[in-house]
Order: sequence, then structure tokens, then C-alpha cells
Amino acid sequence: MTIASDPPLLAVLKGEHRDPPPVWLMRQAGRYLPEYRALRAEKGGFLELVYDSDAACEVTLQPLRRFGMDGAILFSDILIVPHAMGQNLTFGVGEGPHLSPALSDGDFSHLTPEPGHLAKIYETVTKVRAALDPKVTMLGFAGSPWTIATYMVAGQGSKDQSEARRLAYRDPQAFQALIDRIVTVTVDYLSGQINAGAQAVQLFDSWAGSLSPAQFERWVIAPTADIVSRLMQLHGDVPIIGFPKGAGAKLAAYAAETGVDAVGLDETIDPVWADMMLPVGMPVQGNLDPLALIAGGDALKTAVTRIRAAFDSRPHIFNLGHGIVLDTPVDHVEELLDLLHKPL
Ligand code: CP3
Repeated sequence: MTIASDPPLLAVLKGEHRDPPPVWLMRQAGRYLPEYRALRAEKGGFLELVYDSDAACEVTLQPLRRFGMDGAILFSDILIVPHAMGQNLTFGVGEGPHLSPALSDGDFSHLTPEPGHLAKIYETVTKVRAALDPKVTMLGFAGSPWTIATYMVAGQGSKDQSEARRLAYRDPQAFQALIDRIVTVTVDYLSGQINAGAQAVQLFDSWAGSLSPAQFERWVIAPTADIVSRLMQLHGDVPIIGFPKGAGAKLAAYAAETGVDAVGLDETIDPVWADMMLPVGMPVQGNLDPLALIAGGDALKTAVTRIRAAFDSRPHIFNLGHGIVLDTPVDHVEELLDLLHKPL
């Protein structure tokens, strides 16, 4: 139930329709912002930013100062969970993340957990929340177990998540044990973020699109439902956004079976189709193509209008269909915010 003091984004997550729609952008803090690049250079690296709660708080607030978003997303990374489970984590310049040892057999029993890594993140949440205008919603997040497992098993990002998919078929018991462990840590982690001040949380399932329907049921829907039901018991009033990127037609089952309060739509989903197919009144988030934002001008205007029109009677949070791209011009983000603040 919404309460009068709920900020707009939180009210929409609880089922209200707002016009104009509240907005935030996935990866709204990051390398397209000169002030981010400056602080990152000063601190020496990405993880140095993430584990320094003053720096991470500052980075979280940078896009809010510039653009006036309705949501602040905690500055961290989904791979902090495997780091806390005991894998070594590095981000090489221009290389993407590396986790070692890679768990190609799914066995995590030899890893020594480092819960202190997660405690550092809670500090950031508390600092951001204390600094936020009450009209802005503080969002926490974690990766979904399937996406986290793909990195843990391969030790890095991979094109088609083949290692994790092979392991899931070859040794479903070992893979299930790994997923169960990630579920447990993720529930603790999200609950810790909520206790520290997060008002809603998002589960990023970036690689949900690589699974066959039966595997999707087992490795995306079931563990997500498990996280949602455990979090609901702990924090019944905190909305959960599920973002199963690439789920396509499997989105209907995801929305119906996981228990998430809202679904994030990637840019390949037709908003008109999503509106027809999702339960009446279920809030949605998305789904501007990040490349339309790079294009700007008429292409941006047309894409924004189409999305807003499709969701004109459904609770809708405006967002991208995936993270903001590195070479996005900062003034196009301003252009987007101006467009959204005008009536449809
Ligand atoms: O949205 C936000 O602004 C919050 C912060 C955030 C980051 N990563 C910061 C980040 C969030 C929510 C994430 C999620 C994340 N991380 C996902 C899920 C969403 C998605 O994009 O699919 C995934 C798969 C990761 C793993 C990850 N982190 C990769 C593959 C990379 C390398 C690619 C890249 O863009 O460099 C990262 C690094 C990363 N995470 C950066 C940022 C700002 C860039 C680090 C840098 O400064 O060099």
C-alpha cells in the first residue's frame, strides 16, 4: 500500500500510475560522466571506488545532481556477491571482470567467505540515504543467482554462458548447490541493504536469455521465487523489481511465477505486447534502447513517445532496456529528462 510520503518512484512500484513517469537509468553512474572518470582515476580503480563508502556515495549522487533522477541506485557491482563468497575479483582496464578460481565443477566448498565485503556496501547505502532528497527513492540491487553463477563458473563474462549451461546439464546437483548458496547470500545481502536504507531492490538477470524454457524454469524462475519469498517474510513492504534480460516470451511465466512486484523490460520487448500480456496493474520498468539515447533528436523522441503511450494506463517507471553505453552524450540524457517532463 502506498503512503502519502512515498516518493514517486516508490509509489509506482506499489502500483500507482504517475504522469509523467518517474525515471532512473541503469548504470546512470559511470564512465560516460567526466566527474566519475575523475574520481575513479583518483582512487585508482573500480573496486577501490566500490569499497570506499564515501567515494561510492559520491558516485551514486553524481547523476542525481546533474539530471534530477527519481531513483538513486547504489554504486556497487553484482560481482561483490561472489567476492564475498570467497572468489578473488579483479577488474582489468578495458577487460571486464575476472573471478578466480573459476568454479568449473561448481564446487564452492573450498572458498573462504568474506562477509566483511558486504558490510562495506551497507555503509554506502546508509550514507546515500542520509544525503538523499526524500522525493528520491533509494534502490538496492543484486545479481540473480543464474547470472552470478555464469560468472562464478566461467571466471569471467562469456558470450553464450556455455560453461554454466554445460555444468547445469552435466551435474545438476552440484549446480543446484551453487545456486542455493548464492540464494542464501543474496537474501542476506539484499536484507542488509534494506536495513541500511534501500527502499526497493532490483534483481539483475543479465543472462536470463540464454536458457531453454525448462532450464529457465529451474535456474531463473525457481531461485528468483525463492529469494522473493524469503525477502517478503523479512521485509514485506519493500518492492522487488525483477529484470530478466532477454527473457522474451518467457517474461509472462517470470511475471506470474516469481512473485516479483515489478518487471524490468529490455529494449527487445515490444511495450504494446508487454502491456497486453502482463497482469493488469503490474508495474513495469523500461525500456528505451540505449542506442536511441545515443542517437538523440527525433529518433529519441519517437522511441520515448511510443513507450509512454503503451504504458499510459499502467504503473510505469521510465528506464533504459539495458545499461547506459559508455559513449552516451551527457546532453542527450538531459534531453531525455526534458522530454519526460513534458506531457505526452
Ligand atoms: O546502475 C548503476 O549505476 C549501479 C552500478 C552498477 C554497476 N554494475 C557498476 C559498474 C550495477 C547495477 C551493475 C550491474 C552489473 N555488473 C551487471 C548487471 C547489469 C548488466 O549490465 O547486465 C553485470 C553483468 C555486471 C558485471 C560487470 N561489471 C561487467 C561485465 C563489467 C565490465 C563491463 C564494463 O562496463 O566495464 C562491470 C564493471 C562495472 N560495473 C562498471 C560500472 C560503473 C565499469 C567499471 C569501470 O569504471 O571501469
